[in-house]
Amino acid sequence: MTTLDFPRDFLWGAATSAHQVEGDNVNSDWWDWELAPGTHCKAPSGKACEHYTRYPRDIELLAALGLNTYRFSVEWARIEPSEGVFDPEALDHYRRVVECVLENGLVPMVTLNHFTLPRWVAAEGGWTWNRTPALFERYSRRVVDALGDGVPWYCTINEPTAMSTGGYMSDWGFPPRVVDPRRWRTSIAALIDAHRRAVIAIHELRPGAKAGLAAFTVETVANAGGKPAADYALRMNQDIFLEATADDDFIGVQTYTRNHLFLPRIAAPLTRLALAVRPIEDRIAARLLDLKTAAPGTQALPGQRVTQMGWEYRPDALSAVVRRIAKLCPGKDLVVTENGVATLKDTERVEFITRALAALHEAMAEGAPVRGYIHWSLMDNFEWAHGYGPKFGLIAVDFETQERTVRPSGFYLGGIARSGQLYVEDAGPAEAATATSRPATA
Ligand code: BGC
Repeated sequence: MTTLDFPRDFLWGAATSAHQVEGDNVNSDWWDWELAPGTHCKAPSGKACEHYTRYPRDIELLAALGLNTYRFSVEWARIEPSEGVFDPEALDHYRRVVECVLENGLVPMVTLNHFTLPRWVAAEGGWTWNRTPALFERYSRRVVDALGDGVPWYCTINEPTAMSTGGYMSDWGFPPRVVDPRRWRTSIAALIDAHRRAVIAIHELRPGAKAGLAAFTVETVANAGGKPAADYALRMNQDIFLEATADDDFIGVQTYTRNHLFLPRIAAPLTRLALAVRPIEDRIAARLLDLKTAAPGTQALPGQRVTQMGWEYRPDALSAVVRRIAKLCPGKDLVVTENGVATLKDTERVEFITRALAALHEAMAEGAPVRGYIHWSLMDNFEWAHGYGPKFGLIAVDFETQERTVRPSGFYLGGIARSGQLYVEDAGPAEAATATSRPATA
């Protein structure tokens, strides 16, 4: 056995997002989206985990596991249900959540936007409306002011890629689910603008707090033929947002899997040529972004071990993306703000955590400045267009009774957090872990 030591002040946490766990987020664009015909949503979010009222117990459970950090999001649609009207009760609610996190001895990490928008913002075009960045800044200022000075970590926007490429250039299931290069570019610029404004606001209002972006990242492998397409997807889905983090205190790294792009050699010069001409780029961009290069989706190779999402089971993706970002943004602190696996077999989650952390440790030993590991998710929840099928939780939720049951993986990660140590068999984390749990079949 080898013991891998993590730093003493490492953040060990679990994450949720408001819409996915709170329930009854009735003033949000997603609420309408889930109920609209033809949106491919498997189920409406409904009551979700009723976390809006059950949060004290859920936070207690998180602390009892041995974790020290809770990452959660506050809901713009609740806080500003119509333009300029801020709901004091909603703000008060989130202040109480922060207090509860602190009372449990945990570090709160607050995300200001996790995919959802108030209905009235969406009605004007969401992230393509020219007023949205300024409105997001105003909302952010209200939130940061209301939450008090107990929040040391803020994520501005969770995975802007999901709103830009997800909404305007792909079939990932995000509203408005169209292919529209013009609006896609507008949304990218707006998301970057909104992020920067929020960082400035956080720094102004809470000089001691750290502000950053929670970035969508995916390990990508390509052959020579697929390289220009893969590079394009990396650039437009990841790097364009990473480059906007120059003034941030940290980058939130979120990763789940690996994508492959193997194309015939001739595809390389053709892709390069096409991408050099804007109208042609616009015509092929959606295919490059949505193809097996960018989105978690259908990108596993035939015969590969996959998760419930159909994504390649790839714990080591974490170190690959951490190494890449550490190189791209040298010196910037990194926090793994999401990493996890959708599976019906909890042994697979234990194995995933073991291998991901062992890989992360290796990247840290090489010098990557990683400050924490926050698992997705604290509990089973509403997985966007996929509904309630995928199980990402360290805690199982019975959606009929709202009963919570801690899974062995929850105790396992909590134990690692308490000791700051991960034990791996000398055969290597991958082999050691597979020896004790059966691989899933596709
Ligand atoms: C998102 C979460 C989502 C998870 C699993 C992340 O991209 O931030 O909201 O549940 O992936 O799909």
